[in-house]
Amino acid sequence: MEAVHFVVLWVAMAVVLASLGGGAVDAAQEAAKELRRGFSAAQDQSYSQFQPVLTDPTGVFALGFLRVNSTMLDLAVLHLPSSFALWRAIPDRPAQWSASASLSFDGNLVLADLAANKVLWSTAAAGVGDRAVLLNTSNLQIQSGSSSSVAWQSFDYPSETIVQGQNLTSQAALHTFDRRFAMRIGTNYFALYIEPPPSSGGIAAAMYWKHTALEAKAQIVAGGGPTYVRVEPDGYLGMYQKEGPPADVLSFDTFNHGVRAFRRMTLEADGNLRAYYWDASRWVLDYTAITDPCGLPTTCGAYAVCVQPSGRCACLANATDGSGCAAASVGGGGSLCGSTGGEVGGLYWEVRRQSVEPVNKELVPFEHSPSAEDCEARCARNCSCWGAVYSNGTGYCYLMDYPAQMIVAADDRKMGYFKVRSLEEAARGGGSGRAAGVKAALLAVGVAVFVAGAALGAYMVWKRSRTAADTRRQIGADDEGLSPGPYKNLGSFSAVELSSSFRR
Ligand SMILES: *[C@@H]1O[C@H](CO)[C@@H](O)[C@H](O)[C@H]1NC(C)=O
Ligand SMILES: *[C@@H]1O[C@H](CO)[C@@H](O)[C@H](O)[C@H]1NC(C)=O
Ligand SMILES: *[C@@H]1O[C@H](CO)[C@@H](O)[C@H](O)[C@H]1NC(C)=O
Ligand SMILES: *[C@@H]1O[C@H](CO)[C@@H](O)[C@H](O)[C@H]1NC(C)=O
Ligand SMILES: *[C@@H]1O[C@H](CO)[C@@H](O)[C@H](O)[C@H]1NC(C)=O
Ligand SMILES: *[C@@H]1O[C@H](CO)[C@@H](O)[C@H](O)[C@H]1NC(C)=O
Repeated sequence: MEAVHFVVLWVAMAVVLASLGGGAVDAAQEAAKELRRGFSAAQDQSYSQFQPVLTDPTGVFALGFLRVNSTMLDLAVLHLPSSFALWRAIPDRPAQWSASASLSFDGNLVLADLAANKVLWSTAAAGVGDRAVLLNTSNLQIQSGSSSSVAWQSFDYPSETIVQGQNLTSQAALHTFDRRFAMRIGTNYFALYIEPPPSSGGIAAAMYWKHTALEAKAQIVAGGGPTYVRVEPDGYLGMYQKEGPPADVLSFDTFNHGVRAFRRMTLEADGNLRAYYWDASRWVLDYTAITDPCGLPTTCGAYAVCVQPSGRCACLANATDGSGCAAASVGGGGSLCGSTGGEVGGLYWEVRRQSVEPVNKELVPFEHSPSAEDCEARCARNCSCWGAVYSNGTGYCYLMDYPAQMIVAADDRKMGYFKVRSLEEAARGGGSGRAAGVKAALLAVGVAVFVAGAALGAYMVWKRSRTAADTRRQIGADDEGLSPGPYKNLGSFSAVELSSSFRR
């Protein structure tokens, strides 16, 4: 009896899935190949996941209304065989699926919420175009004139993905959909950053991974124009200042293996950068930037020590109330500075711990300091400092301007000092600026939780050759010119796992 039920259910599911899949393909064939001025398309709620409006000549890509997280709506360019969104218009502030949206073209593409009578997004191109087309590269372009000059293209406004042939310049950046992490291009490197929360007011993004190319340094000339990177068909990410041979090659697994397939590189929700190619049935992983789980900010979150190589997490300090690693996930980052710029009590408590260091310490700014006490004091008196690690070997005082993350075991000459946001403050939303209102009753400053090294005893001692570290530092030393672009306050919005909401 149950077997019969199961079979019936299974057949019913297969029928539903088949009809969904078939529907999307048929619709893609019906969608326009070009939008002319005066075009307008209304959202049709009968589409369950994706309503194509414009397709490329090959029928592989389509622009249309995309349903995200079951209730939200975005405009997206989809890779149809995988239903993967290569580009999204408003990933960090999607509209309601019930918004009764419309997409129109009047020289610019405009996504509007008809019910609320408001514009959700517009290309706002300087020059007004004659038509909108989707190229066979997945690039959405607004073209004008008979020469098809480009007034706007989606390739210049990537979301979390770049595809093969798409230039990523220092004017643009990749962001995870929740805007927690970003990838940016510097003069002769590219790097991954933890983005400060929108409320933090002007804190710089913290770099957690960096690829610098020695050869690129020689080939890239000051004043020779901005650098850009591009995923190439041969299976690498090339860095360029001008066309021609790349100044740097970051090779993927299939580099020069003759694999001719559609490639993409994506900054994923976990903060890792990965490259894939489409092998006609699935996305094959071809490159992973961070292979040590402890090098990813999402592996343990804040206020944890990450155990290499397993990526297991232990709390930096025992949570006094059983709430895990001291409310790490609640408050997040932000600033400890009051609106006046001064430090306000009650926002945090202090944790000291020996034999730990940031896994990415080559990327953490440091000052020279005579002692652990001096190093700690530099951080304690600076309200934008979240932690300091003193190395008794080198006299370096590493100063972290984000809550302790990616902390790993180190030799016993390393002394760590960390500020842990107090639970009360975290529960208030962890905002900056609100600091002034914190009452004396919340004062927990000075509660120093001194954690013995016992739990760490078994940990692998993480030794790096000092010379190697110094060499890396030399390489990075004159790269500080990169100023992360202005952080736009676009509201908070957590990641949407697109791929999983789409499996057919
Ligand atoms: C894409 O279009 C260009 C011309 O616009 C053409 O040369 C190329 O062969 C096309 N590629 C594919 C995969 O259709
Ligand atoms: C990428 O940049 C190069 C050099 O500026 C340019 O020639 C090329 O057209 C750009 N490609 C795209 C797709 O914008
Ligand atoms: C945390 O607390 C538990 C019990 O209260 C104790 O056994 C353990 O050693 C503590 N861990 C650290 C790292 O202090
Ligand atoms: C730092 O190094 C000096 C000299 O090697 C030693 O005397 C001192 O005890 C060390 N301090 C710590 C905290 O390890
Ligand atoms: C405070 O710390 C921030 C970030 O670590 C740093 O940029 C700033 O220069 C420091 N300010 C002072 C006065 O040391
Ligand atoms: C997705 O939906 C779930 C459940 O409705 C919700 O908790 C979550 O915040 C939503 N995520 C986004 C990004 O809106």
